[in-house]
Amino acid sequence: MKVPDSLRIKDLEIVPPLVMAPMAGITHNPFRLLVEEMGGCGLFYTEMLSAAAVANESPEKSFYLQNHLQKTPLIYQLLIYEPSQVPPAIERLKECRCQGIDLNLGCSAPAIVKKGGGIALMQDRDRCASVLRELRSRVNWPVTVKLRLGEKADWHYMERLCGMFEEEGVDAIVVHGRLKKDRFKRPARWEFIRKIKEMVSVPVIGNGDVTDARSAKSMFLETKCDGVMIGRAAVKKPWVFREIVARLWPYKSEPLPEISFLRVYERYVELLTSYLPEERRLGRLKEFTAYFAQNFQFGHTMWRLVQNSKTLDEALKNATDFLTKHANRATY
Ligand SMILES: Cc1cc2nc3c(=O)[nH]c(=O)nc-3n(C[C@H](O)[C@H](O)[C@H](O)COP(=O)(O)O)c2cc1C
Repeated sequence: MKVPDSLRIKDLEIVPPLVMAPMAGITHNPFRLLVEEMGGCGLFYTEMLSAAAVANESPEKSFYLQNHLQKTPLIYQLLIYEPSQVPPAIERLKECRCQGIDLNLGCSAPAIVKKGGGIALMQDRDRCASVLRELRSRVNWPVTVKLRLGEKADWHYMERLCGMFEEEGVDAIVVHGRLKKDRFKRPARWEFIRKIKEMVSVPVIGNGDVTDARSAKSMFLETKCDGVMIGRAAVKKPWVFREIVARLWPYKSEPLPEISFLRVYERYVELLTSYLPEERRLGRLKEFTAYFAQNFQFGHTMWRLVQNSKTLDEALKNATDFLTKHANRATY
C-alpha cells in the first residue's frame, strides 16, 4: 500500500493529507498562521468552541472565530449538548470563513461530561444522532466527528455508532486511538483506528502519537487511514508538517530550510501581538512554550523563565536569552 497524497472530505480537497489537531488554548488563529507559514499542513481545526458561546460571539471581534489562513481550509470544532444549540451557532459561523464543522465526541473534562458533552455525547447514540441530523440539515459544508473510544472498546456499540454516523451524513471520522482512561499515559492504540477504518466507507483520519515522517508513514500503512492528524508534536515543532512532506512526498516540496528556533519564537510573538487582545497574549505564549521548550535539553529552564514572566516583552526577552545561548542544544 502506498501513502495517499491527498484526502477528500465531501468537496474539500486536502493536499497533503496531514491535519492539525484541535487543541484548546493552542490552535487559535495566530498559531494556525504560524503553522501555515511553515508549510505542509493540509487542513486545520479550531480549538473546541462551545456552541452556546459561539452563538453570542461577534465574528468581526471574537478571536475565537477569527480565521486569517491564506490558503488552507479550516474546520470549526463545536462542543454541542443538544440539537437546539445548533441553529444559532451555525448562523454565526456562516458569517465566518468556516469551511466545515466538527462535532467534539472525545472531550472527557468532568464539567463537560457531566452536562452530556464530548465523550458523553458519543456514549448517547440517539442524542448524538439528533445533533448530527440538525447539523446536516443546516450546512452543506463537510461535517466531521472526532472521537476517542469511550470507557472500553465496545465494538458492538462502535459498529452501530459508526453506522449511525454514515446514516446521518457524516463526511469523515477522526479517531484518536485512546480510551477515556488512557489520557496520555500509554501509547495510542492504532489498532482501533484500523478497526474503525474497516467498518466505514467515509474517510478516516488517524490521530495519536505521530511525531515525524516515520511515525506518520507507519500510521498510514498500519491503519490504512486516509489522513493523519497531529497535535502535540506540531506545537513542539510547528514545521513538523513541512518536514513530513519533505520526506514522504519529496517531489512535492522544496527542501526544508534550516529552522531558527529564535526566529520561529519571535514570529509567534508577532502573530500573537497582531491578532489576540493584549490580555490573552502572555497566557497563550506560556501554553505554547510548554511544548516548544521540549526541543531543548534544558527546556525546563526556558519554560520556567517564560512561566515566571509578567509581561509579553519580558517573556520574549527571557526566551531570546535562552535560545541565543542554547539553540545548539536542540534535540530535534
Ligand atoms: C492541550 C491539549 C488540548 C486539546 N484540546 C482538544 C480540543 O479542544 N478538542 C479535541 O477534540 N481534542 C483536543 N485535544 C486532543 C488532541 O486533538 C489530540 O487528539 C491528542 O493530543 C492526540 O494527538 P497527538 O498525540 O498528536 O497529540 C487536546 C490535546 C491537548 C494536549
